Amino acid sequence: MLKLLLLNNILLLFFATISITSCFKIQNDGKELDWWQKTIIYQVYPRSFKDSNGDGIGDLKGIEEVADYFKWLGVGAVWLNPIYKSPMVDFGYDVSNFTQIHKQFGTINDLKSLAKKLESLGIKLILDFVPNHTSDQSVWFKKSVHGIEPYTEYYVWKEPKGTDENGKPIPPNNWISAFDVDPAWTYNEKRKKFYLHHFHSKMPDLNYKSPHVRKEMENVILFWLDADIHGLRVDAVPYLIEAEDFGDEELIDENGSKNDYSNLKHSKTMNQPETYELLREWRKLVDDYTAENNSETRVFITEAYTDLEHTLKYYGTPEEPIAHFPFNFELITRLDAQSDSYDFADVINKWLKEMPEGAWPNWVIGNHDRKRIATLFGPEMVDVLNTMVIILPGTGINYYGDELGMENTFVRWDQTVDPQGLVLGKKKYESGSRDGARTPMQWDNTSNAGFTTADKPWLPVNPNYWKLNLKNQQECNQPTHVKVYRKLAAAMKHPTVQKGDFQIYTPSKSMIVFTRTLDDNPTFIVVMNIGSESVQPDLSSVVSKLPDEVYVYTASINSEQNEGDQLSTNGKTFWMRPKSCLVLTTSNIEVNLSEGNNVQCSVVTITILTLIINSVI
Ligand code: GLC
Ligand code: CA
Repeated sequence: MLKLLLLNNILLLFFATISITSCFKIQNDGKELDWWQKTIIYQVYPRSFKDSNGDGIGDLKGIEEVADYFKWLGVGAVWLNPIYKSPMVDFGYDVSNFTQIHKQFGTINDLKSLAKKLESLGIKLILDFVPNHTSDQSVWFKKSVHGIEPYTEYYVWKEPKGTDENGKPIPPNNWISAFDVDPAWTYNEKRKKFYLHHFHSKMPDLNYKSPHVRKEMENVILFWLDADIHGLRVDAVPYLIEAEDFGDEELIDENGSKNDYSNLKHSKTMNQPETYELLREWRKLVDDYTAENNSETRVFITEAYTDLEHTLKYYGTPEEPIAHFPFNFELITRLDAQSDSYDFADVINKWLKEMPEGAWPNWVIGNHDRKRIATLFGPEMVDVLNTMVIILPGTGINYYGDELGMENTFVRWDQTVDPQGLVLGKKKYESGSRDGARTPMQWDNTSNAGFTTADKPWLPVNPNYWKLNLKNQQECNQPTHVKVYRKLAAAMKHPTVQKGDFQIYTPSKSMIVFTRTLDDNPTFIVVMNIGSESVQPDLSSVVSKLPDEVYVYTASINSEQNEGDQLSTNGKTFWMRPKSCLVLTTSNIEVNLSEGNNVQCSVVTITILTLIINSVI
């Protein structure tokens, strides 16, 4: 019995001190990092950011009005969701003219003016490029329907397979639209053929077998490069080209539903070899243009919700690159409030390990298609996740408002406008609608959160705006999400965070520790407690060669520790609350946060004054 107890204790001791570790080195061959590697990319959903003319819809002038905020926050690039002419069935992803600005957003001059403003702030502008489909209101589609050359083959038209017992044409195969439970085919009476739409039936897929379509879309890319934008985020790339045979897709569960998109193996509709080739050509077009014009790098980012292997293939190879990076959605598609530290480490390690050699990592923690992080993981996890996205090696991407911890908004059925919610009907719409994550930016506690002067914005403002808003978080004399975020953004300018080696440890189910180290520079140590109980980490038993004392660079707002505090790494010397995190450094790092702070000057003065007063007291 005694022996057994002893053995048990030894085992316990062993497991208490064991921690799974994994490391990653940035491979930049001594080269200077490029602008897109050293910044956070801030995603703006233009309809919801800032309304300048009181029609309840955000616009380009509105974004320009508040552009100083990007600088204040410390982000170096802004990506705008589509701003092109569109009937707005899918809120801009149904483009009817790729080189015109939708009038609700403004004019091309408004875009130029915004670009100029951003330029003056040293902030890059990235636009959305939506090559898979157009709106059915595009002139191209209308001409295609009427059989006018060369538009006839601009879209993917197929003969019906036959007719059913009621004389109704049968779609060419069993493909289902990614948006709903309906076939990915719609019959057109005029052409007497079906056209393909991987998304909404009002968003017909372009046919990349047509050399005319290829040329048109190359011209679209060149048009925007000529407009001096700094990059493109390329929408829905897996669907660009279909398998040559247009054969049926296999069912995953033979007895399952035939109308369920998720019950089909998408071997015919996604990630075809020709798709990778097409994207490679576009990347070359972008690189050649950049070289010819001797301009800064124009970044090419792909969006693909697919398995890891196919996603990573969108990096291409060093000889034939495709994306500067394909968006890394793993944190939001494979993790949620159920996940423990091992799950987190697994997701992080897999991307870093399986990424092609020399490729650049990136981390997405929210966007206009997914639930907000505060809702998916719980509001207490906001700082933990923002810390991860920024201090992990690579580019961090932020969805507007996540820096404040904005939450999904409940949108009633009668207010629902997202086509992905509408198709599900009143009973089920909540699970599929993306409206809740797209509600207006919460600027302050005035009517409609300062987003619009209209009585009614296009989507309701979250009723929590009176307390959860930017102004409140800037002026409050307590730590707030946005202040933590700003401190994190400043850390991204530090060489250790940009280029340092990465090592991750999971000393327990609830603890994640990772370090960034760089010769002749202070080390960053990030300590996270994602569990439900307070813990006392013993850092020196997890990370070797730590100095006895470390400094708190920043801390999640629920922490017991404050910025600048000194902590001992030897033994269990401090507590961490559930869902809290600390960014520690081996020497005290001072950052000058007042730089570039034009608009919110007074706010910061108040904050600084409060800090001074507090410290004096
Ligand atoms: C992408 C966009 C999404 C859109 C879809 C179709 O996934 O992010 O919002 O609905 O493509 O364009
Ligand atoms: Ca407006």
